[in-house]
Amino acid sequence: MRFSPLVERIAGEAADAWKLHSRASRAAKHDPEVILLSVGDPDLDTPKPIVDRLIESVLAGRTHYSSGLGEPDLREAVAKHYNRKGFSQVSARNVVIVPGTQNGLFAAAMCLLAQGDEIIIPEPMYVTYPGFVGATGASVVSVSLKGEDGFALHPDDIARAITPKTRAILLNSPNNPTGAVIPRETLEAVAELCQQHDLWLLSDEVYLDLYYSHQPTSALALDTMYERTVVVSSLSKSHAMTGWRLGWIIAPEALVGHLSNLLSSMMYGASMFIQDAAVAAFEVPELVETMREIYRSRREVMLERCKSMPGLTCLEPEGGMFVMLDVRKTGISATTFAERFFDTQKVSLLPADAFGPSAKGFLRLSLCVNEAKLHDVCDRLERFLESLD
Ligand SMILES: Cc1ncc(COP(=O)(O)O)c(C=O)c1O
Repeated sequence: MRFSPLVERIAGEAADAWKLHSRASRAAKHDPEVILLSVGDPDLDTPKPIVDRLIESVLAGRTHYSSGLGEPDLREAVAKHYNRKGFSQVSARNVVIVPGTQNGLFAAAMCLLAQGDEIIIPEPMYVTYPGFVGATGASVVSVSLKGEDGFALHPDDIARAITPKTRAILLNSPNNPTGAVIPRETLEAVAELCQQHDLWLLSDEVYLDLYYSHQPTSALALDTMYERTVVVSSLSKSHAMTGWRLGWIIAPEALVGHLSNLLSSMMYGASMFIQDAAVAAFEVPELVETMREIYRSRREVMLERCKSMPGLTCLEPEGGMFVMLDVRKTGISATTFAERFFDTQKVSLLPADAFGPSAKGFLRLSLCVNEAKLHDVCDRLERFLESLD
């Protein structure tokens, strides 16, 4: 049987990266000592006010088709959330509700990119990006970042990557996997490039509310850029709601019109009762503060314990829910490290070159277990490092 060429374009190499994780997940089913730190799925329960609202909504019969771009109450709640952050230009008309950031990125890319176009993305980059770009027929032009300077983004590197085919730049801050936050000045320099070369700025801000020192700048703060900025985010990480599939796109109204057509041809509205529950998430801002503090304490455990581990350097994440471990001084590759560490100590980590060659020699550790378990992981890391001597 014949398939569309699309099937080739969406079949990324990322699958390999998950081999160890899949093995570890299978082992975890029957071995309670296995600890999975290779995936970014929060261990925490979705906060009760959100769950309660979902039940209320289902019992009230809110189980029908919903409005294509999202229920009016939720679109309004998302807009107000951004207004509270100081982005007064965002109105409900700019908000499109989608099942998660991933879907939002896919939908936005389908409306912005086409065969032969290029989109510039700093690398390491989140593993699904090449897939959704491939779906549009466009190609990814990656810009390598360096572990030596904390995977900081340099606008000159972006400028050098621009060609007549470039249509957009995709940024992710705080970043998965690096934990780096793009400073405001850098964002402004990228914005200038977008204006000079008539480009879209697509900003994946799924970790925007999980930060550790200062609040990261959203692309919405770039006030000369409203007509060319698309922000995508969700409740997945900030409210431990990965399985609910609730996210949004903030876009100029012209793009919202096109998204409306696209979403009616592929999705037909996100679940009404999940959208009702999401409104509750925005009514209680303390929920995200609690999450942030939990990740902050976990991050402290890792950073503190790593200081005394010879051969291993921990990059200090400024945001997000991951810590990057630089294992290059151990003399073994990150993949070998991950495999041997899992085989001997039953903890799974993700070799970070799954996110791009610049992350070679790093492992990504998810802060998705409690502090006691992280101490246990550190004990096991110490034993493993000793065994390498
Ligand atoms: C950078 C990044 N973007 C998007 C996603 C997908 O998030 P969502 O659950 O909102 O679709 C993830 C999930 O891990 C991510 O790390």
